[in-house]
Amino acid sequence: VHQWRGVIEEYRDRLPVSADTPVVTLGEGGTPLVAAQWLSEQTGCEVWLKVEGNNPTGSFKDRGMTVAISLAAQAGDKAVVCASTGNTSASAAAYAVRAGMLPLVLIPAGRIAKGKLAQAVVHGAKLVQIDGSFDDCLRIVRELGKNYPVALVNSVNPVRLEGQKTAAFEVCDALGDAPDLHLLPVGNAGNIAAYWKGYQEYAKDKLATRTPKMWGFQAAGAAPIVRGAIVERPDTLATAIRVGNPASWTLAEAARDESGGRIESVTDEQIMAAQGELAAREGVFVEPASAAGVAGLLHAKAQGWLPGGSTVVITVTGHGLKDIDTALDHAAVDKSPVTPADTDAVARVAGLS
Ligand code: F0G
Repeated sequence: VHQWRGVIEEYRDRLPVSADTPVVTLGEGGTPLVAAQWLSEQTGCEVWLKVEGNNPTGSFKDRGMTVAISLAAQAGDKAVVCASTGNTSASAAAYAVRAGMLPLVLIPAGRIAKGKLAQAVVHGAKLVQIDGSFDDCLRIVRELGKNYPVALVNSVNPVRLEGQKTAAFEVCDALGDAPDLHLLPVGNAGNIAAYWKGYQEYAKDKLATRTPKMWGFQAAGAAPIVRGAIVERPDTLATAIRVGNPASWTLAEAARDESGGRIESVTDEQIMAAQGELAAREGVFVEPASAAGVAGLLHAKAQGWLPGGSTVVITVTGHGLKDIDTALDHAAVDKSPVTPADTDAVARVAGLS
């Protein structure tokens, strides 16, 4: 059988695992790098999309979770805990049950997309909905991890970032070198740090000739790093990145500064417009948070920051099917009338006759 073996087997020598580690995998990673024709035309750059919605639970979180859960299994842990805006909980639930562990997940009540809630519930997580924000959830799980026999699998656990850095390896392996620019959304700020680590490792080991500038994008209503201050009540339609006090704040600033990059904000309007364009022009349906990097590219072009001719990779972090409510709220569904089951009527409504 020839198939992708998951990020631990594909990049074993670059990950904190040993021969004794029981590998818990669902075949994560190996995601497509898709040439973005429309975005390239719009910007005069060579734009690629790293489509992380193609991971087993529909987001990039699976890359880190395979490592975190494998090491938890090796340590003999019986239960894992995480705080989440939805994707981490979906991923933790799937990988934990696969390893025979109990997943315990804390989410901000009423603030996560339904698809993600369904994933946690159907995988059999013990779900605790908190009357509070993601940041409250994260504070509580850190305390639980210290005081109870549960392993913490949020990205404050450094092995999560080790797994997530494999996406940077895949980009270099596919392009033959690092790009000029790497754009991605920033929420709890782990992923930008993970990519930066991956790119630096490849450059150090001469598997790439350079590192890219890292450009991160927060939602305007949840942009603590851009503002330089904690946001007490973060708010954005992009619920996945509704984070007011990112755990990896300083790592994200280091990725920005060491790479000569930027962390900027984009509005919900820009995010929803980018989600729509990406789906309608490129054929790639992502959740709102995942469109923040694309919104950022178009924003950068409009602001004149984007050097023409750059090779640009944008990580689109999660699948559009996770949050169909927000997508449908912004789509023209009700403009499509219910039509009699009659070919002539359909031809008229469809504008064919
Ligand atoms: N995109 C999506 C779809 C996410 O779910 C997240 C984070 C991010 C981007 C931002 O990545 O936190 O590493 O800066 N989701 C976390 C969660 C917070 O709980 O699922 P980050």
